[in-house]
Amino acid sequence: MIDIAQDLVLGIETSCDETSAAVLSGGSVLLSHVTSSQIDVHQVYGGVVPEIASREHCLHIDAVVDRALGEAGVRLKDLGAVAVTFGPGLVGSLLVGVAYAKALAYARGLKFIGVNHLEAHVLANLLEHPDMAFPVLALLVSGGHTNYLYFEDYLTYRVVGRTRDDAAGEAFDKVARALKLGYPGGPHIEKAAQKGRDDAYALPRSLLEPGSLDFSFSGLKSAVLNQLNSARMRGDTPSVEDMAASFQRAVIDVLVTKTHMALERFPQARTLALAGGVAANGALGQAIEAEAMQQGVDFCSPSLEFCTDNGAMVAVAGYCYNKAGRYTGWNLNAVPGLKLTAE
Ligand code: KG4
Ligand code: ZN
Repeated sequence: MIDIAQDLVLGIETSCDETSAAVLSGGSVLLSHVTSSQIDVHQVYGGVVPEIASREHCLHIDAVVDRALGEAGVRLKDLGAVAVTFGPGLVGSLLVGVAYAKALAYARGLKFIGVNHLEAHVLANLLEHPDMAFPVLALLVSGGHTNYLYFEDYLTYRVVGRTRDDAAGEAFDKVARALKLGYPGGPHIEKAAQKGRDDAYALPRSLLEPGSLDFSFSGLKSAVLNQLNSARMRGDTPSVEDMAASFQRAVIDVLVTKTHMALERFPQARTLALAGGVAANGALGQAIEAEAMQQGVDFCSPSLEFCTDNGAMVAVAGYCYNKAGRYTGWNLNAVPGLKLTAE
């Protein structure tokens, strides 16, 4: 049993299809991290079914939190705070986590912190890079968001680029579905792409108007769907591997080009941080790291388990809020459409 420490934070994540909890000490010492994934349950439907997701969270949350506390060797009364994702995400899924965390914190008289899931994705970098140098330019690429965020410090940031239509992860998922690969699409595309030629299909790289740090991925997705349809109508069998590789290359080219522009726009940035589920893509990580090196800034990206949705990133965000003395009232509700600050 470890000593009682004021900075022990329990983080709980239930915004989509992972029930996850983690206990963090001192901002970067992860004492436990437990995730119950619903991928198998939703796989047969080709995507997350919201009603099923919230029921699964109800079934698993108690055991997941219990295990996280047990593996950390921590009792509830030892905790400094309980942090929970309150948005954005699926309303039913968020409600399970918010209600559970609130009840736990209220009953035990613990500090309570509502966490923005998107901020948590970026702050996940602190788990393995606690001395990340600010200002930080973050590229957040997830299933629902694609953004550049400029962080002056842990909790002060502004949105400096956003997608105008599909998020990068959404494009991966839709293209994977069209190629009849599994869900979630990103890992399947990445695996197929390793065996394909990335110049086999000519696909567009939408950069929008000159100088823009915004993104648009729906044209790329439509181009893939059109080429697949045309090939099938001609009686050809398109190569899944070649299309996956060509698509992934096009996404990476856009993200690298924009990141080059973003680093030139923000020369004060000392670190380039990649974050979100799509950051799990090895080819993307290498390309963005190379860009950071070329422009002489530090690079960081979370390990695989902290890229996709996880309780540890919520705990580290909670730690930052706890340090800043920023707590949340008991009237906190789930906010499925929660935005980034100043978005
Ligand atoms: O951050 P995340 O776990 O959930 C959201 O907050 O949206 O991101 C999920 C997204 C999905 O679209 C998934 O296909 C994508 O991240 N993803 C990947 C990879 N692993 C997950 N995309 C590309 N390559 C991967 N290896
Ligand atoms: Zn996420």
